[in-house]
Amino acid sequence: MCGITAYIGKGQALPFLMQGLEKLEYRGYDSAGVTVLNNNQLTTVKCKGRLKNLEEALKGHDMTGSVGIGHTRWATHGIPSNLNSHPHNNADGTLSIVHNGIIENYRELKDILIDKGYKFQSQTDSEVVVQCLDYFYKRGGDLMDAVHKVLNCIEGSYALCIIATKEPDKIIVAKKNSPLVVGKTEEGYVAASDIPALLAYTKEVYFLGDDEMAVLTKDDVHFYNRRNEELHKDITVIPYTLESAQKGGYDTFMLKEIHEQPTAIRETMRGRIFNGRLVFDELKDVDFTKFNKVYYIGCGTAYHACLCGAQIFELENHVPVFAQYASEFRYGNPIIDDKTLCVFCSQSGETADTLAALKLAKEKGCTTISVVNVLGSSIARASDVALYTAAGPEIAVASTKAYTTQIVLLSLFATYVAQELGYPVDEDLLTQMDKIPNYVEALLKDDPIFEGYAKKLENQHDCYFIGRRLDYASVMEGALKLKEVSYVHADAYVGGELKHGAIALIEEGTVVVAVATQPDIAAKTISNIEETIARGADVILFTTDQFDTSAVKTVYRLPNVNPLLMPLLVAIPMQLLAYHTAVIKGRDVDKPRNLAKSVTVE
Ligand code: F6R
Repeated sequence: MCGITAYIGKGQALPFLMQGLEKLEYRGYDSAGVTVLNNNQLTTVKCKGRLKNLEEALKGHDMTGSVGIGHTRWATHGIPSNLNSHPHNNADGTLSIVHNGIIENYRELKDILIDKGYKFQSQTDSEVVVQCLDYFYKRGGDLMDAVHKVLNCIEGSYALCIIATKEPDKIIVAKKNSPLVVGKTEEGYVAASDIPALLAYTKEVYFLGDDEMAVLTKDDVHFYNRRNEELHKDITVIPYTLESAQKGGYDTFMLKEIHEQPTAIRETMRGRIFNGRLVFDELKDVDFTKFNKVYYIGCGTAYHACLCGAQIFELENHVPVFAQYASEFRYGNPIIDDKTLCVFCSQSGETADTLAALKLAKEKGCTTISVVNVLGSSIARASDVALYTAAGPEIAVASTKAYTTQIVLLSLFATYVAQELGYPVDEDLLTQMDKIPNYVEALLKDDPIFEGYAKKLENQHDCYFIGRRLDYASVMEGALKLKEVSYVHADAYVGGELKHGAIALIEEGTVVVAVATQPDIAAKTISNIEETIARGADVILFTTDQFDTSAVKTVYRLPNVNPLLMPLLVAIPMQLLAYHTAVIKGRDVDKPRNLAKSVTVE
């Protein structure tokens, strides 16, 4: 999704803007641009394509200036093109803005402005912001007044950075349902849509809340609410470094992040188990006896972690648990009330559908707990309690270490609730959990085996994944990983459903990835596998050493741990299979086409 950078300080703006945009590349984008303010004049350069196109386009322009804004665009309204790229300026080049989010009433506002004689250059929703700003600013008052008036007119979501030649000593930023952080540096103040863009300059940040604004100058920053009342904000010090947001010798972020999982899992567990008891101080005020129903809600990979978390919670706490896609939950009129617990899972903490689902749950009086990775993110702040995974920054679009750490935290959370409710605590799960990072390390060493399996997929158009119960969650995730990074079409099926339709797809040479790790159901999955082999399937089976797999030629034996923890181990070969298939096929592993890291629009 779109990325934003802004700089005001004693140094030059452009280096910050460009390095920040580069750090935000992982979010996915199709065009980029910058505006620099110097000698009461704005210079804007923007173009379709990657940042290297922008670097080329910048040659020959004088981009000197200590105030500037930058943007990477991920098209929502209007095709990727030079004109649709940000920043957007008013006609006389005195105002420049960058915008993330969606202005939902832009057509209406555009019609009004066209009636007033305004001419639009682009097809974007964002351009109405600068034209509207021009309208109010030219009718008197200062820039801040005009920005307030614009915010009163626009509906939807936004992170905005605004500069004006008439007030060259400031940048105004505003936020609603789209992330924005302000950083304090030695040179002045900076802003960005995500922390990695700031890390080379500062670890000291202020998080903006919804309906909040800030005025940045080179010497200070002031925060305001929509009633123009000044707000006090404390600095948060970011606990990770720029190095942790870089590739560190690996070819791709995805591979680096796959290899970071032993550490990420250890860090997420840290402090949670003490003398055989679960410790979740954040939850001490939650009365778990009152819930008669639980929802686990997320999107994509986070939803797959929810599928695992929900099954474990139900088993340990004897209460009905539903896992739902956030986009379905928010529009599904769920029957929820103050006796419902809703758990929201999100790496970025900014996913628009998950955030909207959370707001709905709050409106209906539910208790809301979030499991997030990004400190201070919108979902973390909006929920009653935020539990943090300690995956560190996840840059590759395909989620890997966030997924496994979500499962770790959700398993510990479910066990904590059982402990609080007086149910027997699964001590075996706790003991085995401790060993998971070592098992993951061992699995990573088998990478050449998984690379070998990937060769089977080199010339395949389709691949089918099968599993049951927790193994179904694992194959859902395996199929998603494969399709998103390698573009091989992949579908996951519950083993028992195959003969109700999908088995028609199996023919000589079809690759089927099967997972059978759950003792109570593995034999059934293995029967399903045999049915596909009978129809010519080339099966790769991931299982433990407990089951008879003589019918299958390609079998990988996973360590035999507590069944509830098997998804953590299965995840590793699933990720590496997808990764190597993508590499063999020459894909852009870290930035798959059409995808964005942080999905901040619906
Ligand atoms: C897939 C992937 C996505 C995200 C989904 C939710 O590899 O990364 O499916 O899991 O967009 O994102 P978060 O977890 O940030 O809410």
